[in-house]
Amino acid sequence: MTHPIRIAPSILAANFSKLGQEVRDVVDAGADWIHLDVMDGHFVPNITFGPDVIKSLRPHTQATFDCHLMISPADPFLEAFAKAGCDIITVHAEAGPHLHRSLQTVRSLGKKAGVSLNPATPESAIEYVLDTVDLILVMTVNPGFGGQKFIGAMGEKIRRIRAMVGDRPIEIEVDGGIAPETADIVARAGANVLVAGSAIFKGDSVEAYRRAIEAIRSPAEKARA
Ligand code: DX5
Ligand code: ZN
Repeated sequence: MTHPIRIAPSILAANFSKLGQEVRDVVDAGADWIHLDVMDGHFVPNITFGPDVIKSLRPHTQATFDCHLMISPADPFLEAFAKAGCDIITVHAEAGPHLHRSLQTVRSLGKKAGVSLNPATPESAIEYVLDTVDLILVMTVNPGFGGQKFIGAMGEKIRRIRAMVGDRPIEIEVDGGIAPETADIVARAGANVLVAGSAIFKGDSVEAYRRAIEAIRSPAEKARA
C-alpha cells in the first residue's frame, strides 16, 4: 500500500510566543500534518508542552495533529492527549513494559496509534505489534532536541522496516535532521511522512515556510517516482 508523501512540521522549532499563528501559517504554507513533540525531562533530557497547550491549538486548524510522546510512563496521559484533540498518538517502544497495551489504549480512545523507535532500538522490538499500529516513527536522531544531524545508518533501518511492514497499511514516519539533503534518502528507503522542525521554521512568513516545505517535498516525491 502506498501512502502519499506528507510533510509534518514540528512546532518545536516554531516561535512559542505565537504558536496559534505559527500553526495557521505553516498549514497555509502547505503542511499536511502538525507534529507535536511532547517531552517530559525524564524519557528525554528536555521539557516542552502537554495536553493543555495542544488543546489551545486545536481550534486553529483542521490539519491532523500528529502527537509524538517522548514521555515515560505514557499510559496515564493517553486519555488527556486524546481529549486535547490529537489525531495520531505515538508512544515510544522504550517508554514502558507494555507497549501492546499502550497501543490498544490509543485505539480504544478512537485515535490512530503510532510506535516510535529510538536509533538504538532494533526493529525486532515492534514486530509483535505490527497489527496494532497505524504508524511507525523512526527516529533519525536521538530524541530530545531539534537541529541535530541525521544519523546516516537509519537509512538502512527504514528499509528493513519497510520490508517488515509488507502490505500492511502502516505509514512510515521519520523524525530528526530531515532537510532537503536528507529527504530523498528517507523517501527512497520507504518513509512517507517527513517531520521537520528547524528546516521549516526559518524565516518568518508563510512564503518562507512554503518554500521550505516544497524544498523537502520535492526531492522526496522525486525519490519515489
Ligand atoms: C526530536 C523531535 C523532533 C524535532 C526535529 O526529539 O522528535 O520532532 O523537532 O527537529 P529537526 O527537524 O530540527 O531535527
Ligand atoms: Zn518528533
